Amino acid sequence: MAIQTVGVVGAGQMGSGIAHVFSLAGYDVLLNDIAQDSLDKAMATIDRNIERQVARGKVTPEDKSAAMARIRTTLDLTSLGPCDLIIEAATEKEAVKQAIFDKLAGHLAPHTILASNTSSISITRLASRTDRPEKFMGFHFMNPVPVMQLVELIRGIATDKATYDTLHDVVVRLGKTSSTSEDFPAFIVNRILMPMINEAVYTLYEGVGSVKSIDESMKLGANHPMGPLELADFIGLDTCLAIMNVLHDGLADTKYRPCPLLTKYVEAGWLGRKTQRGFYDYRGDVPVPTR
Ligand code: CAA
Repeated sequence: MAIQTVGVVGAGQMGSGIAHVFSLAGYDVLLNDIAQDSLDKAMATIDRNIERQVARGKVTPEDKSAAMARIRTTLDLTSLGPCDLIIEAATEKEAVKQAIFDKLAGHLAPHTILASNTSSISITRLASRTDRPEKFMGFHFMNPVPVMQLVELIRGIATDKATYDTLHDVVVRLGKTSSTSEDFPAFIVNRILMPMINEAVYTLYEGVGSVKSIDESMKLGANHPMGPLELADFIGLDTCLAIMNVLHDGLADTKYRPCPLLTKYVEAGWLGRKTQRGFYDYRGDVPVPTR
């Protein structure tokens, strides 16, 4: 099935990145959020990030203008109903995602495919509560969306082949590469990445190393582009904790227990870059480790 109109629910870090790459690939995007302020910020972020690509000669100014013109914003979730594809990219809380799919029900076109950008929650369970589990998939982008090559495709138990093939082709049109994961907690990337980040927090918690020494060790010793604590701040510590909880609950194995220090940072509201404080303090000119 040919996809042309794409609804994106949630205009945060992931939703704005998803709107960015879809509009540049020629799709018509309808971006939704509950707050006008978030929509305004998302449009400014998309403009700034496409401008970076223009400055590096990767996108022409004409393509940028055309892409920006293809994105419309709305506070009305139900107006996304007729889109060919709707991608939910709201916060990583099952109740929030559930409420979005409930609200969309009854407004969808018969052919509409539903997808969730969830980084860990069961696709089968999210799909089972909609009227179209066969047209429901996990469609997991990595952050920063415009830069990262991978999109994970996750089939729920009921997802049909036509839906899988359609989203597979969408990834190709975006110029990205897909990997296919079975629907088990946190899929592939986060199943491997989050325990590493959690272990880095334990390494800090137990005093084995400081924030600086842990991040430098993994950058210089394992050639990671970012240290694990810097990366945790980049992803959001609330998201990291939510994913560890899904792994812990879903696989019932103590090896996935979230580090108490990670929980403490989240309790403090120190969620990383988005709140200007996490394992680093971003309020000054250069990030300063908080431990
Ligand atoms: N939009 C568009 N372009 C962007 C961008 C954005 N938001 N952010 C960076 N770029 C571009 C830059 O313009 C630059 O382009 P060129 O290659 O053409 O020069 C390139 O990306 C590299 O950027 P910078 O030079 O500014 O910075 P860098 O070299 O330090 O790289 C980084 C930044 C790409 C983020 C790199 O540090 C990196 O790869 N970090 C790891 C990211 C990662 O692991 N992401 C996955 C997180 S897990 C996840 O997302 C799943 C989940 O569910 C939690």
